[in-house]
Amino acid sequence: MNPSGFVLRRGRWHCEGVDLERIAREVGTPVYVYSSGALVARYRRFRAAVARFGRRTLVCYALKANSNQAAIATLARAGAGADVVSGGELQRALAAGVPPERIVFSGVGKTRAELEYALRVGIHQLNLESAEELELLSRVVSAQRRTATVALRVNPDIDAGTHAKITTGTKANKFGIAIGEAPELFARAAGLRYVRALGVAVHIGSQIDRLAPFERAFGRIARLVRDLRAAGHGVKRADLGGGLGVRYDRETPPGPEAYAAMVERALGGLGLDLAFEPGRWMVAEAGVLLTRVIYDKRGRHKRFVVVDAAMNDLMRPAIYDAYHPIEPVRMPDKGTAASRADVVGPICESSDWLGKGRQLPALAENDLLCIFGAGAYGAVMASSYNTRAIAPEVLVRGRDFAVTRPRFETAALIRRERLPDWLA
Ligand code: LLP
Repeated sequence: MNPSGFVLRRGRWHCEGVDLERIAREVGTPVYVYSSGALVARYRRFRAAVARFGRRTLVCYALKANSNQAAIATLARAGAGADVVSGGELQRALAAGVPPERIVFSGVGKTRAELEYALRVGIHQLNLESAEELELLSRVVSAQRRTATVALRVNPDIDAGTHAKITTGTKANKFGIAIGEAPELFARAAGLRYVRALGVAVHIGSQIDRLAPFERAFGRIARLVRDLRAAGHGVKRADLGGGLGVRYDRETPPGPEAYAAMVERALGGLGLDLAFEPGRWMVAEAGVLLTRVIYDKRGRHKRFVVVDAAMNDLMRPAIYDAYHPIEPVRMPDKGTAASRADVVGPICESSDWLGKGRQLPALAENDLLCIFGAGAYGAVMASSYNTRAIAPEVLVRGRDFAVTRPRFETAALIRRERLPDWLA
């Protein structure tokens, strides 16, 4: 099996042992399909890479990339922890069986209720992002008489060199505490009765395809750890965030092995317990979005392949100009002519596109297309814009598959709303 879980067999794309045509027929389209084997294999590879230096490491899968219960449970059973950024994600992680002691909670806007919830369940670590958050936490812990284990999320002011909308580690971004302010805040945290300040955390962005920005950021973290220790603080942990990129198009991102070797160079001498928060790397390539052709619309000037998936199902192209490979599920015969087309959805705006200028054979109504690299930031970002049903999700294991989230039909969308008395 190909490491992503998707293989061409007898001219047709399969997920592990299951023909994608069969899933489309039985579940309908658009539909997200994930490979269980790929999820587990990717987790194991990441885990082995970062664990190889003998340090205590925790791999906290960043739920935001794909928070389907079945995906989380698959990774949790393989040993993964979770990085959550809301009370809702914390609830999801626990529901899928992630033990609280493997959960870290990040985010710039944790509410009082979320801090209380995290304390109550006893998670591994809260990553604090501001003096104001420390202030609120100190009130919550005193009231509850419970101890919070925290790390300070530091903003190292490093440009990750990725898309501006997914860059998080420069001073222009809302995330973390400016590295210059960290020693003072750490001292304040360390002085609080119910707070155990054990570490530092950093996350500089997503879909980073070079090691250099990470290495610069981690170098700054190493210097901060030394300074904090020199000031008498016991710094035991570093949480290095996520961000490792994948190949959607022609990117050549480093693998987790090279990434881990870089981490060792930057931080190896410090004897820290390390946590990682990979999201995209773990799931992007393990999932596809299957869609059917509605029209192969050929105007005099341009060809559009109009499909039944749209920007509400997969927002990444509309928001980030993201590239996802798109191929027919059934390979065309050799020598079939192809021409350029924009692959678009039925939604009423021009940002509703999934691929631009793609070489595709002539297509007919109901032909199936497979949009690759859709396992991360796909289904989780879906909406019901244009009153479109929310696409179902399917998990494949070997020759089996299961619908892990049924389609949320439009009737149910409407039923969820209420008329006020004066209209009823
Ligand atoms: N940790 C923190 C604190 C984060 O903010 C993120 C992602 C991660 C970990 C996981 O990063 P990853 O390993 O997935 O790069 N919707 C965008 C991506 C947003 C990422 C937000 N934070 C996209 O579709 O590209």
